[in-house]
Amino acid sequence: MSCYTLRLLFLFAFALLFSLNESVNLLLFWGYPSDTSETKYCDVQSGSGNFESCMDLCLKSNTCMLAFGTDNSCTLCDTYSISVITQTDASNGIKTAIKIDQQQQCPSMQNDLYTRSDTPDNYTLSLSNSTWKLSYGKKCVTGSWKIFLRPAGPTCFKVEKAPKFINYADAMNFCRAQGNLIAPAGLQAEHERHFILETAKSIGGAYPTLEYTSVWLTGTMKIACYQQPTPSNCTDIKAFQAFAWQNNFDSYKFAPGYPTFVKSSSNQFQKCLQMMIAQKSEDWDGMITNTV
Ligand SMILES: *[C@@H]1O[C@H](CO)[C@@H](O)[C@H](O)[C@H]1NC(C)=O
Ligand SMILES: *[C@@H]1O[C@H](CO)[C@@H](O)[C@H](O)[C@H]1NC(C)=O
Ligand SMILES: *[C@@H]1O[C@H](CO)[C@@H](O)[C@H](O)[C@H]1NC(C)=O
Repeated sequence: MSCYTLRLLFLFAFALLFSLNESVNLLLFWGYPSDTSETKYCDVQSGSGNFESCMDLCLKSNTCMLAFGTDNSCTLCDTYSISVITQTDASNGIKTAIKIDQQQQCPSMQNDLYTRSDTPDNYTLSLSNSTWKLSYGKKCVTGSWKIFLRPAGPTCFKVEKAPKFINYADAMNFCRAQGNLIAPAGLQAEHERHFILETAKSIGGAYPTLEYTSVWLTGTMKIACYQQPTPSNCTDIKAFQAFAWQNNFDSYKFAPGYPTFVKSSSNQFQKCLQMMIAQKSEDWDGMITNTV
């Protein structure tokens, strides 16, 4: 497949997530996370009943930082996903409940500054001029990376446009050469899949003569799947290996007919994974194929 390819980079954060005996409180107020480029990475829950059950859902989830909504709607956002929350009055009916430390003795000296410190993914929450700003203990090195929580800890992601057509090996090498803790990435969760797809579209540009462009992803075909006929357990992502720091593969949706175990015209196994980005064609947008 002749595609313009984009490189995918990936930076590890330093600390591991571990479970704690935390005593978490929720700070509840009228207001909502107001940056839609952030809330699109939150998860809308179906039929929660009332806002209290929405708060319960967040309390029960280790990755959830805040819940917002009404008695008829509930959205949960993971730690690191939100940086700004607008405080309102009751008129629009939207509440936000955010995890904070056990409160100090009343009366509190300050009620416009809260922290959550008993987790490796700590943050402070401060109010100024009806806007709550969140500041996290960990950040990506620059703003062009986006942080997502993985089971191994917070992880920064970036998609980079290659200056020219680039093959899988060159893309992986380029990525690793960016720095010590930088490695090629795959898809641990839907949030990551959306981010990669959307970023590739915004930085990739339009190629009206191509069917698709693509983003190289980490992972290669298992040698056991090279046999003909193809072993019956070589199905979908199970035919691939070498996914560092990943334990979930639900976000890999293969294009029809993929993965393919047919050799390429150059007589090579199509052992590398890529995400398709719509150009002239769009049916496979965001889907995974394998190629040489
Ligand atoms: C506070 O918000 C108002 C309305 O958005 C704005 O006009 C004002 O400049 C803000 N003040 C500060 C200190 O940011
Ligand atoms: C928050 O996390 C950062 C980075 O892990 C750490 O340096 C800092 O000491 C932590 N702050 C608190 C209050 O726990
Ligand atoms: C398929 O099963 C065989 C026999 O159990 C095993 O050796 C092989 O590694 C499996 N292949 C995959 C792709 O899981």
